Amino acid sequence: MSARILAIETSCDETAVAVVEGGRRIVANVVASQVALHAETGGIVPEVAARAHLRWMLPVLEEARSRAGIERWSELEAIAVTEGPGLAGSLLVGISMAKTLAWVTDLPLVPVNHLEGHIYAAWLVDGESLDRPEPEFPLVAMVVSGGHTFLVEMRDHLHYRLLGQTVDDAAGEAFDKVGRLLGLPYPGGPAIMRAASGATQRDRRFPRAWLGESDDFSFSGLKTAARRAVHAELGQPESERGEPDGGLLPEAAVAELAWAFQESVVEVLVTKTLRAAERSEARTIVLGGGVAANAVLRQRLADGASARGIPLVVPHPSLCTDNAAMIGAAAWHRLAAGARADSDLEARPSLRLAV
Ligand code: KG4
Ligand code: ZN
Repeated sequence: MSARILAIETSCDETAVAVVEGGRRIVANVVASQVALHAETGGIVPEVAARAHLRWMLPVLEEARSRAGIERWSELEAIAVTEGPGLAGSLLVGISMAKTLAWVTDLPLVPVNHLEGHIYAAWLVDGESLDRPEPEFPLVAMVVSGGHTFLVEMRDHLHYRLLGQTVDDAAGEAFDKVGRLLGLPYPGGPAIMRAASGATQRDRRFPRAWLGESDDFSFSGLKTAARRAVHAELGQPESERGEPDGGLLPEAAVAELAWAFQESVVEVLVTKTLRAAERSEARTIVLGGGVAANAVLRQRLADGASARGIPLVVPHPSLCTDNAAMIGAAAWHRLAAGARADSDLEARPSLRLAV
């Protein structure tokens, strides 16, 4: 048993292939990002994303195979692929590749939920820290990505109890929309983080949607508050039609608004995660998804978790954003649980996390 799984991820705008051993050790992890491509349109155009996956699928597969030093496919244990959620056309490229590989190699085909992948990124070790212990159950995992924001409790592998989720926008979506309002480049998340770090005046306050004691989230009010603030900075009446042009704002105002927005999102995410961890008597907190690449969120949650004596696992930023290594990690547990797909595997764009 080689214990090596080759995993493919094409659910959104990264074409990714990884080889992961035993659900933890990254042997190769290749990601071709489409960020530059989608920056031109300020967001993802599904048709363009699917075509880019087609363009990059084989070169990325070949790069991962060569970096992992795989000479015969029989060195692998299984082929894993993201089946959803995500963009249908994008998912299909990875699924078709995985089916073909599984067919020619006669290896088992393991379908993986992308959201489960974001959680299992916490199990990955990247060379240096192979003896880092695995996250302990029960754990509370917070996934904050471009399309999803939710909190789950896990008492064992592959078992999830949904604690809360966004009732409107995902956290990453809010970063992207407010980034656009502020005239910042796509994607908004990293751009807002960079702009916010340059803020000198830090006294502006955006609202926080606490939703009472609920573990749910809401970010759409924050977007409205940001739009209003940009209009006000530009001296435009709020009734003015269309989006304000944040590109006209002075750099200092952009920094201040970016900071206020980020503070609001981070405070709500951190407070709710810590509260849920206490309620669940969690022995680990896991943070994952693209927004978990945010340095302020990582630091704030680390401070809160350490004050409560709860170990926190946050993957390296490059493993928080979309990648295939996380799919390989989740697939290891799915494979052990007997998950198999065959040639009729389909894309499941609206797949939810099994709860
Ligand atoms: O998980 P991900 O790579 O793709 C999805 O599955 O959606 O998440 C992408 C999201 C985008 O909305 C992006 O703006 C956000 O993650 N993001 C960040 C940061 N880096 C990426 N948000 C805040 N701060 C960051 N540093
Ligand atoms: Zn993702």
